[in-house]
This record gives sequence, structure tokens and C-alpha cells, in this order.
Amino acid sequence: MSGLSPKQLGFDVSGNQDVTQAHGPGILDDIQWGTWRTILLDTAIELDVFSALYGGPKTLDDLGRELKCAPAALAALLDALCGQRLLGKQDGRYRLSDAASAFLARQSPAATPDYYRSPASRTAARGGVAEIIRHGDRRLAIAEPSDAKNALMTWRQSLAASFSGIWARLGLNEFVTGPQHRLLDLGCGAGIRTLMLPSRLKHLRMQLVDRKSAIEVAENIARQLGIADRVDFAASEIEDFTPERDAYDTIFLGSVINYFGPEAANELLRRLFRSLRNGGRLVLFGPLADDARCSETLPLLLDFQFYVTTPDGRVYTPAELFGHLGEAGFIRKKFIPPMLIEARKPDLRQD
Ligand SMILES: C[S@@+](CC[C@H](N)C(=O)[O-])C[C@H]1O[C@@H](n2cnc3c(N)ncnc32)[C@H](O)[C@@H]1O
Repeated sequence: MSGLSPKQLGFDVSGNQDVTQAHGPGILDDIQWGTWRTILLDTAIELDVFSALYGGPKTLDDLGRELKCAPAALAALLDALCGQRLLGKQDGRYRLSDAASAFLARQSPAATPDYYRSPASRTAARGGVAEIIRHGDRRLAIAEPSDAKNALMTWRQSLAASFSGIWARLGLNEFVTGPQHRLLDLGCGAGIRTLMLPSRLKHLRMQLVDRKSAIEVAENIARQLGIADRVDFAASEIEDFTPERDAYDTIFLGSVINYFGPEAANELLRRLFRSLRNGGRLVLFGPLADDARCSETLPLLLDFQFYVTTPDGRVYTPAELFGHLGEAGFIRKKFIPPMLIEARKPDLRQD
């Protein structure tokens, strides 16, 4: 197959992009997340969250008892409602926004909550979301259709351009000075965050790991880019993948840590720490919640989605991730807003 240039595949290799463009165009995000906003609101109305807050602010524990919901599950729902500005949170108490108080609490004279329940969301699957929040039983997780994931991969291909700006900002150009720089992209998806790199960085050797369906997409893109001989592909569950020890200069996790609960995340980070060479670095990219878990719109909506669709996935705050990174032995942890965290394995000669 003849190699297409990175530019023809939609990659900007100049590295001059603005890193704040890491999200998709606003209109696409709006459409993409519209379904989950609808499910969120529908579930909150079904559980009658807004009526429970009409009398004044309440803590999570109060609301959990009153609404007979599991606290951790209810927190994911309430925090996502904060992100949508339907609730606010202060001093550990949730309160209604003006709009929610007027239209969604059943005690209000102007209440029309059922009007805001989407007919499309009254399917068996979505009715199940309220059950998950009541019981907190994540074994009931509602699987997302796999074609949604594939669509996401294709759509994200157009984001590769802005991502080369992130690598430039992380100084990958200067970093690649030795005879060879090894980069592991774990949970690579279509590989759109890293596949633009080999044609720019001559000493780079990459390894991409994901499930078979994703690896097939990534391999195809690498072939079209004419760089397949510089990339090793492995189709594997992350849990079953044993990376070489002291082998990598850079390990990249793009929106992957979210699939791991705190214990599994700790275990994964320890494993990655061992597989970095001294002084090597880990780059985490993905949604991050604000520390108070009440203002980041999309990350908190995603956290709710992870609660409902995965056994223990979640959206972490930078402070939570710093904690896990520290436990695994990482140092020089850096949060680069809005979506990037970098940390190093100590280099005994320098640290
Ligand atoms: C949200 S996508 C991100 C893809 C890519 N890293 C990016 O930033 O565009 C998450 C990827 O992680 C992979 N993934 C999640 N959990 C996994 C696991 N346990 N084993 C293998 N792959 C996993 C999924 O298949 C998916 O391709």
C-alpha cells in the first residue's frame, strides 16, 4: 500500500497547534453528549432529586437516605447535575439552581418536570439507570453499543492535528536525543494521539496496545502513513499486558485510566513505573474533574456515564491522580490544564 503523508491523513505535523483545541469543535461535543445530558436529567427527575432539595440545601447522606439511593452512585449523579448548572454545591451541601427550583421541583407552582423527560429516554435500558443509582450496583452496568466507540475513533482522527501541539508543548522534540526513544501508547484506540510522531522523530520506536478491534484500525492507519515498520502492535487486555522492565522513555495513557477504579489504577501505575527507564515519564491525557466536583461540565457528565456503563470506571481529579502517582513512586508531577498530567520516574543521577 502506498504511504499517505500525515497531512493527507489529517495530521498536522508542524507541532504549532494551540493545545487548548484538544476538545472537538463545540457543536460536535454538544451533539455527542446530548444523549447523556438527557439520560442524566431523566434519571434525576425519575428519582425526584429536585423535589427533595426544594426545602433547602442538603448533604449527600441526607439525600441518600431520603431518596433511598446508594451514596457513591448518587454523588456521581448530583455532581454531574452541578456540572450542568442544575444544582450547586457549597460546604458539602447540594442546592437547586433557580431554573431547577422553578421548573423541576414538584412543589413549585411552575413545576413541569414531566415535560422535561425525553420520550426517547423512556426505554428499558434507560429506566435501568435509576435502578443503578438506587442500588449502586455496578454489575448492572449498561453496555454502550460498540459501534458508538468506533464512531468515536473515526471522529477523533480529526483531532490528531491538535494533539501534535501537545507533544510539542511536552518537548518531545528535544527529548528524543539518544540513539533510540521508546514510547508505549497503552489503550491507543486508533492511535491518533501518537501515530503522527514517527515521521517527525527519527529515533522514535513505538509500541501500541489495545483490544483487537482498535489495533486493527491503528495498524491500518500506520500502514497508510508508511510508518508501520517503526511501530509494534499488540492486541491485548491492558490487565494481561506485561510491559518490559526499565524499557520505555515515555508511556502515554490517553483517556484510559478512567476505565480503572482506584485499586486497579494503583496496580496499573505501579506496573508502568517499573517499565519506565530511570528518568522516564508518564503522560496522562483525558478528562479531569475539578477538585470540588461541581463545575467541570463534560468531565462530570462523563463520570456519571462511567458510573452507569462500567464496573468501576470514573473521572479523577488531578489531586486524586497525584495521590495514585505518588503511591506508585512517581515524582515531579505536573498538571497542565485542562487535560494533561505528566510525572517522572526518579533518575538516581538527578533526583
Ligand atoms: C477513550 S479510548 C482512548 C483511545 C486513545 N488512547 C485516545 O486517546 O484517543 C479508550 C481506549 O482504551 C481501551 N481500553 C480500555 N480499557 C481497556 C482494557 N482493559 N484493555 C485494553 N484496552 C482497553 C479501549 O479499547 C479504547 O480504545
